[in-house]
Amino acid sequence: MRTRFIVGNWKMNKTASEGGAFVHRLSQELTHHAGIQIGLTPPFTALHAVREALGPASAFLLGAQNLYWEDKGAFTGEVSGTMLKDIGCQFVLVGHSERRQYFGDQDGWTNKKVLAALRHGLQPILCVGETLQDRESGQTDLVIQRQLRAGLSGIESQTLSTVTIAYEPVWAIGTGRAASPEQAVPVHRLIRKTLNELGGADIGNHVRILYGGSVTPHNIADFLASEEIDGALVGGACLDPVSFATLAKVAI
Ligand code: G3H
Repeated sequence: MRTRFIVGNWKMNKTASEGGAFVHRLSQELTHHAGIQIGLTPPFTALHAVREALGPASAFLLGAQNLYWEDKGAFTGEVSGTMLKDIGCQFVLVGHSERRQYFGDQDGWTNKKVLAALRHGLQPILCVGETLQDRESGQTDLVIQRQLRAGLSGIESQTLSTVTIAYEPVWAIGTGRAASPEQAVPVHRLIRKTLNELGGADIGNHVRILYGGSVTPHNIADFLASEEIDGALVGGACLDPVSFATLAKVAI
């Protein structure tokens, strides 16, 4: 019912020319990917080069790693939804834990960013996840529900179906210690239950929920074996086109 979505988040890696070269190599490695969606989130500075390398008819989706909620103005260093749409983005990450941890993104901001993305016709991927301390103190469910309800506040039910959620336990990101499916699946179920409460089951059941945190070509199948997990948000393992293509092929 839900189309699988595999997203490669480049974080602060690759120049514009490296991004273009990556796309050419990925296109050679991954000639067939019908039935799933694949997205790339290069840094802002590589978006144009990657868009050009993909070409107008590409089935790969282009996304950004962040946006600011105002459309324009005196906000030095920020990039708006208008700009992302203009450069050819189709989706945008919001509230990635690195944004929350290092750049002060808080729940109120993620909500403004989600709403701004939707206003510009960009699909938001709202990232949620607990820290190790949250998990060890039994706060995981509370934290996830708080981040979800705050981030999605004020969104009409119909619009909610265009949002994607990424569950990324902070302790699993970039550590090589992926959550086990036994740890991830209950949180995905909690997210689904919360979405159904927010938008009704008809809408909530359409929202895709991705897992992120040390996903590799070797463990992706374990996550996708659960019908609760609709894809992956991949960091380290997406930086090499052959590795990313291998990983994506498992999802097809
Ligand atoms: O956005 C991607 C996630 O933060 C996961 O990163 O695959 O390097 O753990 P990772």
